[in-house]
Amino acid sequence: MDLSELSPAYVRSIAPYQPGKPISELAREMGLDERKIVKLASNENPRGFGPRTRAAIEAALGDIARYPDGNGFELKSALAKRYGVEMSQIVLGNGSNDVLELVSLAFLGPGRAAVYSQHAFAVYPLATQARGARSIVVPARDFGHDVEAMADAVDEETRVVWVANPNNPTGTMVTPERLEAFVRRVPERVIVVIDEAYNEYLHANLRADTLGWLRRHPNLVVTRTFSKAYGLAGLRVGYALAHPAVADVMNRIRQPFNVNSIALAAAAAALNDMEFVARSYAENLQGLRQLEEGAKKLGLEWIPSYGNFVTIRVGRAGETYKRLLRRGVIVRPVGGGYQLPEHLRVTVGTADENERFLAALSASLGE
Ligand SMILES: Cc1ncc(COP(=O)(O)O)c(C=O)c1O
Repeated sequence: MDLSELSPAYVRSIAPYQPGKPISELAREMGLDERKIVKLASNENPRGFGPRTRAAIEAALGDIARYPDGNGFELKSALAKRYGVEMSQIVLGNGSNDVLELVSLAFLGPGRAAVYSQHAFAVYPLATQARGARSIVVPARDFGHDVEAMADAVDEETRVVWVANPNNPTGTMVTPERLEAFVRRVPERVIVVIDEAYNEYLHANLRADTLGWLRRHPNLVVTRTFSKAYGLAGLRVGYALAHPAVADVMNRIRQPFNVNSIALAAAAAALNDMEFVARSYAENLQGLRQLEEGAKKLGLEWIPSYGNFVTIRVGRAGETYKRLLRRGVIVRPVGGGYQLPEHLRVTVGTADENERFLAALSASLGE
């Protein structure tokens, strides 16, 4: 008997998420020195994390024999103060991935549907399929979300629309005006998720006032993370801001202790590491320009990016990916579900890491 058949067909048909290759794995496979490997594959912060965060982590270590605060009071208070929302509007997650899953658990199921864009973040199809809901995939426009077509695609069964702004892996963004017009068009019975994982990497003028829109649009869920600009990907902490009634259902189905105590303390402190985040933003912009210049010199096209990564068209991406691995550089292929078989997504690293990637790319293309 094939025991996998005990699970529903919609679960068995899920294609597993492909994470960026860990440094330790490549070191084992290729017999390379871990310290010489450059990983630009998971949109992490190459600068690490801020000094206040480090101090909070060290202080929290003494308490790990105890369960964390299941309500995350300290972090929720800090978020409420920073963003001018009520604590009842906040849902904390084990990474923002967790809160995306909570949206799907709370609002999707068989007989329901979710709308998302072609080339959108991989968790949307995963979370939709895992609940037995139908996916309505809207073709991208210039690699980005065609939000007008996405609003048109909402049907009777649609309960969730997923929007990543900026989107991963394309780095594209929807302007605040277009996004607001879209939110106005989607009926209130449909939850609109605006996933702002890369929000801190946007210039302030390009950031939509999504938190202000929450007051007018009770069906809006804004998700954010400490994994990117705050540099806490390994700790896993993110959150959703929503109408209290929406947050309430999501909180009911959340695991009681879904965010660990070190992550809670670190995230609350990280909100005050403003200088670290500002420097991460500025250095990311420089790094993006460095990668774009490098791609240009190699005669390659790229998708203009608003995130901490850039997706470059290299042609036979699978082959180039492997050649880069042999040179100790890990990037992310975006064929498969992302449907970009000629591109590689490259996270912005330190100036030195970016240089090493560009040199390895040049050598790989010439091989
Ligand atoms: C668009 C987008 N949303 C959400 C996430 C999830 O990140 P995390 O679970 O670390 O918060 C990612 C991670 O790459 C992402 O790119």
